[in-house]
Amino acid sequence: MTTALITGATAGIGAAFARRLAGDGHNLVLVARDTERLRVQATELHDRHGIEAEVLTADLSTDAGIEAVAARLTDRVSPVDLLVNNAGFGNKGRYLDVSVADELTMLKVHCEAVLRLTSAAAGSMRERGRGGVVNVASVAAFLPRGTYGASKAWVVQFTQGAAKDLAGTGVRLMALCPGFVRTEFHERAGMGTGNIPDWMWLDADKLVAAALEDLARGRSVSIPDPRYKALMGLVKLTPRSLLGGVTSRAGRTYGPE
Ligand SMILES: NC(=O)c1ccc[n+]([C@@H]2O[C@H](COP(=O)([O-])OP(=O)(O)OC[C@H]3O[C@@H](n4cnc5c(N)ncnc54)[C@H](OP(=O)(O)O)[C@@H]3O)[C@@H](O)[C@H]2O)c1
Repeated sequence: MTTALITGATAGIGAAFARRLAGDGHNLVLVARDTERLRVQATELHDRHGIEAEVLTADLSTDAGIEAVAARLTDRVSPVDLLVNNAGFGNKGRYLDVSVADELTMLKVHCEAVLRLTSAAAGSMRERGRGGVVNVASVAAFLPRGTYGASKAWVVQFTQGAAKDLAGTGVRLMALCPGFVRTEFHERAGMGTGNIPDWMWLDADKLVAAALEDLARGRSVSIPDPRYKALMGLVKLTPRSLLGGVTSRAGRTYGPE
């Protein structure tokens, strides 16, 4: 039996990874900040699928949280075969409406934690000659979209480069680039979603199924939906100046604090 560690496992895309991987018979290490919610989730997954689900409470915006997860990833007695770096969030507002401290917190969770956890996991995986890392980015990586888009662009570039460096070692790395997914993300970020058309919303379970297929195929970047593949093709052909105008509006209405 293999073990998968998922950060941000309690909600949205992370919870969909947990359901799918538990259904496939993998043991899980579930990471988030809310211990009670993690415990309830672990019990449910254990009871439904007969797998072992460990709870690891960690705040990935802190060094202590990152170190605790890194320590679990380098545990030789109970190795982790698949890491899903999924924890993430949106800040409540546009550039200069958000404090620099909040922007730095985003970089810590989206970039520093992803770098340190990928490195901890991939080092151990390389020693064993097998393993996988999925780093959840976003299609925002390909668009001018403030610190959020920039942090996700870093995830894509880093993951693709690291995947190339580890080619032939048995360790696969893949950046996952979803479009809009119905999760807790937008509400937590205080974002209105009224201007996002229905056809742009993706289902988290289908997204995860497509992502795992792409990982099995050895892709280093996954845009797991034909609609968004076509859109990102268009993005490549559109002048950046025009792109900025359109993308800074879509899904970026913010309510009162
Ligand atoms: N939803 C979308 O439209 C969308 C699109 C593209 C990419 N994404 C990306 O997908 C990933 C998951 O987002 P989601 O939509 O599933 O969001 P979500 O429903 O809000 O879930 C976020 C998860 O991350 C955990 N988390 C947040 N901050 C954390 C921290 N500092 N330390 C540890 N865990 C933390 C949360 O649990 P706790 O609060 O208990 O810690 C929760 O389990 C993110 O990286 C996001 O950027 C989302």
